Amino acid sequence: MQYIPKTYDQIDQWNSLMFIYGSALKQMQVKISVLSGEFVHIYNYNPIEHVKARLKKAESIVKKLKRLGYEVSTSNMTEKLNDIAGIRIICSFTSDIYQIADLLSRQGDITVLYVKDYIKNPKPNGYKSYHMVVTIPVYLAEGPVETKVEIQIRTVAMDFWASLEHKMYYKVGKEVPDNLQAELKACADVVDMLDAKMYSLNEAILKWNAQEEGKEQSANEEPDKGNLSDPAFESEKSADI
Ligand code: GTP
Ligand code: MG
Repeated sequence: MQYIPKTYDQIDQWNSLMFIYGSALKQMQVKISVLSGEFVHIYNYNPIEHVKARLKKAESIVKKLKRLGYEVSTSNMTEKLNDIAGIRIICSFTSDIYQIADLLSRQGDITVLYVKDYIKNPKPNGYKSYHMVVTIPVYLAEGPVETKVEIQIRTVAMDFWASLEHKMYYKVGKEVPDNLQAELKACADVVDMLDAKMYSLNEAILKWNAQEEGKEQSANEEPDKGNLSDPAFESEKSADI
């Protein structure tokens, strides 16, 4: 149980740090919620299916620091770990991922430290997701504290694969035989195909809908000569103005 802080001072430092990371997470959640609200407001379309936020548990923080060969200290926590505050944004389509990533990166108070694009460069096991580690200022009484947040953005299909893959490995805790790994990779390829198919289906539906709306509009705009001389039409027109 070495991860339990030994002194009141350490407990205080730990609580302050976790408070800051928690606050950074809340700020990111607000930003994402504003973006998704704006999309609905303007385009009547929400690219975000759902959002998950989590603070890394004390035990996982200590395990990771030890695994990386660092002494367990609050300064190593903030310097060496990038995923104490983590947020996962699940989008509808792959194109939404890049749009959300771009909109977040362009916000003035967000600094992108680095990006790992596992969509353009999937991991050998088939894992796909867009990762960004950013900093965001948390305004405390004594001033702003730039705080790291790991953002993972992926589609519903990519999330489905990643969640199940994580569960399978978590349970066994070691590498599985090659043939099973190959099957997992094959599932990732199916997920890929599904994402591509759903994207092109969505594009086709949008195109079809735009054409239908165009037809309706031109039918409504067609001048009806009979009606133009109709006094009832004239009064309708002026009532509209
Ligand atoms: P960690 O030390 O695991 O946090 O990885 P990292 O610091 O090298 O960063 P990376 O961006 O590669 O991974 C960050 C996080 O992405 C991981 O903690 C997982 O949540 C997720 N992730 C990365 N690779 C995989 C994978 O192969 N399968 C699944 N299910 N999740 C993954
Ligand atoms: Mg991690």
